[in-house]
Amino acid sequence: MGYETLNVDVSNHVATIRLDRPEALNALNSKLLGELAKAMKSSQENEKVRCIILTGSEKAFAAGADIREMHEKSFVEVFMGDLFGPEVEAMLRVRKPIIAAVSGYALGGGCELAMMCDFIIAADNAKFGQPEVNLGVVAGIGGTQRLTRAVGKAKSMDMHLTGRFMDAEEAERAGLVSRVVPAKKLMDEAMAAATRIAEKSMITVTAIKEAVNRSQEVGLSEGLLFEKRLFHALFATEDQSEGMAAFIEKREPQFRDR
Ligand code: HXC
Repeated sequence: MGYETLNVDVSNHVATIRLDRPEALNALNSKLLGELAKAMKSSQENEKVRCIILTGSEKAFAAGADIREMHEKSFVEVFMGDLFGPEVEAMLRVRKPIIAAVSGYALGGGCELAMMCDFIIAADNAKFGQPEVNLGVVAGIGGTQRLTRAVGKAKSMDMHLTGRFMDAEEAERAGLVSRVVPAKKLMDEAMAAATRIAEKSMITVTAIKEAVNRSQEVGLSEGLLFEKRLFHALFATEDQSEGMAAFIEKREPQFRDR
């Protein structure tokens, strides 16, 4: 399927979705967000795809929602039109793992989009920020909630209230990103991680994503119960028998998603 604002490539069971509006540093306009929602849905539905990478350009993952497109909108338009609501829901409906490979700016909605992914691998030139305060608004697709859960209240308040940017090193220290790699190696590292995930049982991977995401929603005892039930349930799968047998027989497991 052809997109105007994205490039999508599927290889080795990995869909790589690249945001591609270089003239606006991948600012998220309605066209791009609509296409992203479609690309995510079709990656979820494509049986060849076992993991997704979301990335941008070397200079910008995404410099935020498109300010030119937003600036003349009224409250009634954005409220009644549920600005960004359906696109965010489409992202969150994806059950396959999504890795954000972030190089350059991930600001505002760009930072929020990266945080909607399951984990972030950052290039050493990455810069994260929630500068909406400078525009007279607040983050709108999860920034105040997800950044706070990721880095704690002090840093989140600092980022949102001052609008300052966080570099890759600070982001890793604060727990926003899982690893930092040289910019030139970003896609190789992301692809290596995605390929590794793609080799696992999709049943297990899906359960892990659900369980970890659950930890962001519920209290500890509910989360622990959810995890224990999933752990027990996976004993009903062939992939559990195969994974454990392969360990004992000192060979690589052959998972079949059963
Ligand atoms: C529209 C944008 C844009 C944006 C950059 N551009 N960010 N257009 N919306 N968010 C455009 C510029 O207007 C410019 O177009 C071109 O991209 C290159 O940007 P420059 O500013 O010339 O580049 P540079 O000097 O390198 O500065 C990079 C930058 C800066 C620091 C990232 O562009 C910047 O501050 N951008 C805005 C960041 C921001 O405030 N993001 C939050 C948006 S609000 P021309 O045509 O002039 O060449 C938001 C709300 C989220 O995200 C709520 C839910 C989604």
